[in-house]
Amino acid sequence: MQLSRFGEKFAAKSGISGLMDDLGAALTDDPTLLFMGGGNPGRVEAVQVAFAKRLSAIAADRDARHQMLGVYQAPQGDRDFRDELARFLNREYRWSIGPENIAVANGSQAAFFVLYNLFAGVAPDGGERQIHLPMSPEYVGYRDIGLSDNFFTATKPKIERLAGGQFKYHVDFDGLVLSDSDAALCVSRPSNPTGNVVSDAEIASLDRLAQSKDIPLIIDGAYGQPFPALIEDSATAFWNENTILMLSLSKLGLPGVRSGIVIARPEIAQAFSRANTVVSLACGTLGPQLLRGMLDDGSLLQLCRQEIQPYYAQRRELAIHAIEAARGDLPVWIHKPEGAFFLWLWCEGLPIDSVTLYERLKKRGVIVLPGNDFFIGSGEDWPHSRECLRISYAGDRQTIEAGIALIMSELHNTYAQSP
Ligand SMILES: Cc1ncc(COP(=O)(O)O)c(C=O)c1O
Repeated sequence: MQLSRFGEKFAAKSGISGLMDDLGAALTDDPTLLFMGGGNPGRVEAVQVAFAKRLSAIAADRDARHQMLGVYQAPQGDRDFRDELARFLNREYRWSIGPENIAVANGSQAAFFVLYNLFAGVAPDGGERQIHLPMSPEYVGYRDIGLSDNFFTATKPKIERLAGGQFKYHVDFDGLVLSDSDAALCVSRPSNPTGNVVSDAEIASLDRLAQSKDIPLIIDGAYGQPFPALIEDSATAFWNENTILMLSLSKLGLPGVRSGIVIARPEIAQAFSRANTVVSLACGTLGPQLLRGMLDDGSLLQLCRQEIQPYYAQRRELAIHAIEAARGDLPVWIHKPEGAFFLWLWCEGLPIDSVTLYERLKKRGVIVLPGNDFFIGSGEDWPHSRECLRISYAGDRQTIEAGIALIMSELHNTYAQSP
């Protein structure tokens, strides 16, 4: 098979797809494995019941059924849905956006592919432009997304050690120097993988920096506001004309629906939709139809507050408690969990690479994600980047307890065997 450059890059078994294959194969080979690796949301029964009711209502309504199954959406997405979402955001956050600021996408991963490549890559003058990640480590799904090489630059964070064996990353504004080839800034808030939440002050500084360079600030809100809002209360939702806010329905419990949303100034929303039309023709109608009415009547926010947020809060406590109880004197630090549904462990001075640790843990029956791949555009020369693990606490209680017991036992063995 003779592949194009595009084919060689995108069909390669590397990075994210290699890891996903490996995770999938491990589970198929051994369904008893404790899965704490992927980004699947938790199974929250009340959420599934609520959406199943919406589906039944749509199926029973002749017009709604037709809208969902029988028509292509407009390029920017269903107009009524965009009106309702704009009303909702203006009411909740006092923004002033309209349907022209909103574009629907087939999942936010696909939206990132289109959006990143709109800004970065080969410039019209032949030069290269990059997406800058101001606080690496970042979401591993960005890693292979560029149509050209050298697609990312990144700034390492400052590390603050906290009481109780926790630590926290901060944006290192002294180290954050943008060059003329940086085409946009992007930060996940809350962060996948670390659970960090870039503070309001840090966001304000990133916004100033982006505006001073006349480049957009992209905020990946897959886990954040307005839904499912798995983010600490002190964080304020942020958007302005220079911001591109990327939302997803997946972490509400709907990853199968493949629905994402871009919120940007009209010129960017329209550019995104045009490019997206080339790739997808139109976006799926299921996500917008499911949410219709639930923004106006407040029931989506209620579902987040009463069901989704408590579900993850309980599991986060359980996971932290399990690590603390088994940690002993190991130099294993937990990133302060401020959002999303992951614990990010820093195993300081780990005698082996985190990929080797991942392999050992897989043999012992638990799947996590090694940290290395998250240090996109940074980390090659930084030992810290080989000392971290991402653990999902979205699963059931037994998985969390048994999985963490195995992880901690393996860490004790690993440190004990070091010379
Ligand atoms: C931070 C972040 N952004 C974007 C995505 C993509 O999500 P989706 O394509 O399901 O909307 C994910 C998925 O795990 C994520 O964790």
